[in-house]
Amino acid sequence: MSKEIRYPIIRPTLPDFSEVEGDLRAIWESGMLTTSRMVRALEAQTAEICGVEHCVAMANCTSGLVLAVKALGLTGEVILPAFTFAATGHALIWNDIEPVFVDCDPGTYTIDPESVRAAITERTSAIIAVHLFGLPPDIDALQAIADEHGVTLMFDAAQGLGATYKGQPVGGFGAVEVFSMSPTKVITACEGGLVTTNDGELAQVMRQMRDYGKGLDGYDMAFIGLNARQSEFHAAVGLAGLRHLGDYMGHRLEMIALYRELLAGLDGVTFQEFPEERTTSGNYMVMRIDGEAAKMSRDALYDALMERGIQTKKYFYPALHRHSAYAEWGARYEGRVPESERLSHEGLAVPLYGHIAPEECEEIAATVRELLG
Ligand SMILES: Cc1ncc(COP(=O)(O)O)c(C=O)c1O
Repeated sequence: MSKEIRYPIIRPTLPDFSEVEGDLRAIWESGMLTTSRMVRALEAQTAEICGVEHCVAMANCTSGLVLAVKALGLTGEVILPAFTFAATGHALIWNDIEPVFVDCDPGTYTIDPESVRAAITERTSAIIAVHLFGLPPDIDALQAIADEHGVTLMFDAAQGLGATYKGQPVGGFGAVEVFSMSPTKVITACEGGLVTTNDGELAQVMRQMRDYGKGLDGYDMAFIGLNARQSEFHAAVGLAGLRHLGDYMGHRLEMIALYRELLAGLDGVTFQEFPEERTTSGNYMVMRIDGEAAKMSRDALYDALMERGIQTKKYFYPALHRHSAYAEWGARYEGRVPESERLSHEGLAVPLYGHIAPEECEEIAATVRELLG
């Protein structure tokens, strides 16, 4: 019999309904249901927050990534971290590009620039880096490698909205960044994606690509696009959430600090390192369990917490090249990305929401301590 889940891993944080009611009614009454006033407002607000010139809203981040890879004209091989969510790789496979998996830094869990450098070949067209659990990677090092080899740098920024690197909000780094507004993100639009760039031409192509690939006359198809448009209702929900970005993110960061304080000193338990020049969006609170030192494996802890009604998430698990859909690469990358493999067996995300109460974190942390202590 399944246990009652008292603490789900995620509860979306939504503004009070009164904050969207008027907009939802106005959309209903206007009959303008997609890619109209609310979508434009969401795009403008996101561009302002990220300090970028252009934002193109999408139905979700995955379609934004697929279309960004296509719009950038990437070919051959693209380097990506093995320790990421599947959509990073899917965007390449949909574009018939060979994914080249590289390892992550054991402290920050973000893509390791030295592994990237070692993986560059003459077929490399780009590097996709990920703001991991909300933390940006070493962007300067990655941009330097990209410039040195004349390849594109782009970001799967799905979890990163609100993060900063050297005091600059993410969104304007590399050629393009793609954010998610799915229910698990700091700000949700129910579903949604946001593509940000300072390249006006690329933004224009992305706008056409989300609309089947239509040419400027609205008839002739200039590209093979998708329908990846965002509905007005989604944009209204996303926009209302965005007004609370500072509060929701600030609360998450406080709760992450509280968890870390309460879980400090446990044998075999470590946390994602946050270098001084980078701030995280706080999308996830992930701890790493070294099973031997903790005398309990990550998977056993996951089961024991579930027994007590606390849902956690093995994250990211498995490493991307280990999924069934990537079996062809799983065999080829055997032993080549050891940190990613290890992390995928040690990382555990605990419940974290923009509105989780400190007492809830205290109870969860106390249960972890009791199990590991
Ligand atoms: C790192 C990463 N990339 C891509 C995605 C895909 O985002 P979406 O669900 O909006 O397509 C996610 C979402 O969960 C993610 O965490």
